[in-house]
Amino acid sequence: MTTRLVVVGAGIAGLYAALLASEDRGTHVTVLSKGRLEQSNTYYAQGGIAAVLGGGEAAPGDTVGAHAADTVAAGAGLSDPEAVRVLCAEAAAGIAGLRRFGVQFDAAGPAPALGLEAAHSAPRILHAGGDATGAGISAALSAEVLRRARAGLLTLRTGAFLEAVELASGAVSGVRFRHDGKEHRLRAEAVLLATGGAGQLFEHTTNPSVATADGLGAAWRAGAVVRDLEFFQFHPTALAVPGNLLISEAVRGEGAVLRDGTGRRFMPDVHPLAELAPRDVVARGIAQHRAAGRDGADGEVYLDATVVEAGQGAGFLARRFPTLHRLTAGLGFDWTSQWLPVAPAAHYWMGGVATDLNGRTSVPGLYAAGEAAATGVHGANRLASNSLLEGLVFGARAVRDLQAGAGPAPVFAALPLEPARGERSGFDRMELRRLMSDAAAVLRDGDRLAVAAKQLDMWQARGSATGEDANLLQAGRLLVASARRREESVGAHFRTDFQHRNHTGPVAWINPGAAS
Ligand code: FAD
Ligand code: SIN
Repeated sequence: MTTRLVVVGAGIAGLYAALLASEDRGTHVTVLSKGRLEQSNTYYAQGGIAAVLGGGEAAPGDTVGAHAADTVAAGAGLSDPEAVRVLCAEAAAGIAGLRRFGVQFDAAGPAPALGLEAAHSAPRILHAGGDATGAGISAALSAEVLRRARAGLLTLRTGAFLEAVELASGAVSGVRFRHDGKEHRLRAEAVLLATGGAGQLFEHTTNPSVATADGLGAAWRAGAVVRDLEFFQFHPTALAVPGNLLISEAVRGEGAVLRDGTGRRFMPDVHPLAELAPRDVVARGIAQHRAAGRDGADGEVYLDATVVEAGQGAGFLARRFPTLHRLTAGLGFDWTSQWLPVAPAAHYWMGGVATDLNGRTSVPGLYAAGEAAATGVHGANRLASNSLLEGLVFGARAVRDLQAGAGPAPVFAALPLEPARGERSGFDRMELRRLMSDAAAVLRDGDRLAVAAKQLDMWQARGSATGEDANLLQAGRLLVASARRREESVGAHFRTDFQHRNHTGPVAWINPGAAS
């Protein structure tokens, strides 16, 4: 008996899962990717991948328990403790798996070089090529996938856009996708959605153009429960010029500081960990500072990495962050002598398709892993460098679950989302991105969310959005509905009209009109 598995997505979650699955002769794997193999969030990852390794490869005194505690603390207490335990405990095995497929991490002598990032209590970030970790991982995994595809061990289709997960009697029966301008169908017993995030929902994002919530859209239409969608992480330090180049948190880990227009460091007033506070705290600190234009300053915020160069010696920034050194120079900045203007940009969606610890969604045969999934590990705010790790650990678990003979689909409590009502209005993606940036970014309030909900309903009622646009629109509706429902501030979800905690339970939705 052969099990047919379709893996949708060629980031870390999809490529790694596909490689593992293809090692079992009883599984036939097809990988679909809408873009080229390097068109993924994974490819752009800079800082690295968090893991506490054994065998003398961890920082002195660091433990898997400390990694788990940092993950829960950054998640503002909303992380699922068991999911976090699994994530941190299985990190070392995941790193071993990456090394087996040819990923080479930067070394300091015989041990890996370990970076520090915000809200980590110890240096434990493995990186590759200095600040080109994602490109290193993507290149190694892609090379192995291409080799196996040539050897007939798996099937790879790039330029293949997933349109729908197909069901028979309520369980997965295959996928429908577009390739070379034609519609295709592929039968499968299992589908793994590894389609990444949705940064394209917002005007300013660190994500590439492929991040359009397609997996969420397909899962929603198939009737899967989605959750935690109010929690969208904004990275604090994207370069405040067109393109929003991410300036890695690892730069702050090396000692760079944030300053306002007068040169004053303002983060020490906001949090005891200052620039290395959890990401939501730093992003909010910057957003509030920019909004207020405090202390006679112009509201601009700058990242000062000149102190790192001065402290570590000339040439350090170029050696430690070669990609950023080249890219900032290309944009006209000399960061060894000049502060960089920075602003928060949409970076990572904590929410997604609800899964259990084995990647199973509420639809039998449908799995999700990586950024497309909501495993519960990140709670209300993801700890830096835990995302690549999540794709690795839970992608592998999904494969093991499938090959062990998947059990019943989990049941998650969820509310039906009201269908769109109201006038109809033509859809425009740029307007959607502006609307979401205005109402549902770092600082939110009920009035602006209500306006956004009305406009989103009008676009949805018109029903003119298709493909990526339809997925983004649906994702926006779900995000805004979730943000309206959570009348409190926690982690990345900050309501200026509800600044206190009131311990709202998980916000999860199901599509009452889904095909079954
Ligand atoms: P992705 O890597 O985004 O891959 C998604 C794949 O799905 C792509 O191949 C895409 O083409 C495909 N796809 C999407 N829709 C469809 C469709 N309809 N049909 C077919 N294919 C489809 N995290 C860390 O842990 N450490 C870091 O240092 C780090 N740095 C980052 C820096 C940047 C600039 C960015 C943007 C993110 C960073 N992150 C980092 C986050 C992390 O990179 C991502 O969350 C993670 O790589 C997601 O992996 P994934 O496999 O789930 O999805
Ligand atoms: C970064 O390098 O700052 C990004 C790390 C992450 O998103 O985990």
